[in-house]
Amino acid sequence: MAPQGRLLIRGGRVVNDDFSQVADVLVEDGVVRALGQDLLPLRDTPGELRILDATGKLVLPGGIDTHTHMEFRFMGSQSVDDFYQGTKAALAGGTTMIIDFAIPQKGSSLIEAFETWRSWADPKVCCDYSLHVAVTWWSDKIRQLASSVFHFVPLSFALHENKTLVKEEMKTLVQDKGVNSFKMFMAYKGLYMVQDEQLYAAFSQCKELGAIAQVHAENGDLIAEGAKKMLALGITGPEGHELCRPEAVEAEATLRAITIANAVNCPLYVVHVMSKSAAKVVAEARREGKVVYGEPIAAGLGTDGTHYWSKEWSHAAHHVMGPPLRPDPSTPGFLMNLLANGDLTTTGSDNCTFNTCQKALGKDDFTKIPNGVNGVEDRMSLIWEKGVHSGKMDENRFVAVTSTNAAKIFNLYPRKGRIAVGSDADIVIWDPEATRRISAKTHHQAVNFNIFEGMVCHGVPLVTISRGKVVYEAGVFSVAAGDGKFIPRKPFAEYIYKRIKQRDKTCTPTPVQRAPYKGEVFTLKSRE
Ligand code: URP
Ligand code: ZN
Ligand code: ZN
Ligand code: ZN
Repeated sequence: MAPQGRLLIRGGRVVNDDFSQVADVLVEDGVVRALGQDLLPLRDTPGELRILDATGKLVLPGGIDTHTHMEFRFMGSQSVDDFYQGTKAALAGGTTMIIDFAIPQKGSSLIEAFETWRSWADPKVCCDYSLHVAVTWWSDKIRQLASSVFHFVPLSFALHENKTLVKEEMKTLVQDKGVNSFKMFMAYKGLYMVQDEQLYAAFSQCKELGAIAQVHAENGDLIAEGAKKMLALGITGPEGHELCRPEAVEAEATLRAITIANAVNCPLYVVHVMSKSAAKVVAEARREGKVVYGEPIAAGLGTDGTHYWSKEWSHAAHHVMGPPLRPDPSTPGFLMNLLANGDLTTTGSDNCTFNTCQKALGKDDFTKIPNGVNGVEDRMSLIWEKGVHSGKMDENRFVAVTSTNAAKIFNLYPRKGRIAVGSDADIVIWDPEATRRISAKTHHQAVNFNIFEGMVCHGVPLVTISRGKVVYEAGVFSVAAGDGKFIPRKPFAEYIYKRIKQRDKTCTPTPVQRAPYKGEVFTLKSRE
């Protein structure tokens, strides 16, 4: 048996985001060692080098899924794809890295949440991963608060409160823990939602630290009011989920977040862009020169919200996620157009899977249906089918939106997101002509349904290589829990921060130089 460390991928078409070439790829010790025509390492004796014939196939950087929630404790339940099964499914679909979210409860430590997520993920992941951290609360006055209540709270609590000054924790996460992205929720009122002034504070700290701010952009107050209204109308089924949060609710929050981020000159990343209206807001802001990126997800690109009106409750409930899929059936095609032309930048899956029995927690009240859908396994094939096979994008743009742009934004590039000498050998041998039918019966995820059930996609991963090791081939896995690694990310990604710094330098307002006013000044009457 050849050691897994040495591979020669021969004769494939190597596709990066900027160009493609027919070339061999030599992999050693987990990285790409050489790339070129007819690489014939003469020093090798048979048996030391495994040769993979990729003639007629594409050789792509492994996908980076920018948005997952494995084993997420949420809405009274826990998502069923854990870090083991979820990352295995990712590999089967051609994704070699995920970025999950550590999400603290309001008032709890961000660092503790980060460490907790790491303790869940490290022993289980089959592919490399990283963590975004959510900022679900804010307080600048924590020291005063702790001392003013000091006489009736135990000392340990006061110290804990002292320790969890959010601003300081963000700094530690960036400087010592490899985090360069923070998600703020504008929805989930009472749970994770933060107000505008907290967004302003969190964005300011992101800017200071060289991180990117992410937002879940939906107006949480309007959703809460809308939900009450729907329930009062007797609408308790999954259609109520969409009706209480129409497109405008997403578009308004998207514009608000962009406005606040622009005021701070902080780069902004809008996660799960689900509607035409929100996508247009992102596109318009980019046209105005704002540093904002939009992330559509597999679900929003592959299906729509008409399912919420299905007569079968469970079918409708399976599609419940926030922001919702949109009932306008032209939405997926529209989002794909914007992804193809550069208005939208990256793709994730927001994989957050709950089985039917968990969804049934909301059988009598849609507000109790755990939010989330699948996508980690099918994202790549789905984007190939709806993006490339449909003629909207070429193979290079496919690579850009499935890995390279994410690697650039989250400062993983060129280690990830590129096939080049020195890059991690996260590689997929991709058959662009083969097809597969998506089904819960054959998928590798834990969840008992698939929102893309029955869909036939061109574009099939034949072999997935994770840091130089063949981990998935012809339907067979060779990977163990914990084989993946946590990938720390440094702040001030050039791809986003060069522009931010330039704007700081040249766009900061300056006072008008003028002679002092010497005339009369009205005297204010002092109040009694
Ligand atoms: O419905 C969703 N998106 N569930 C996961 C949590 C989130 O808001 O991303
Ligand atoms: Zn979200
Ligand atoms: Zn349906
Ligand atoms: Zn999410």
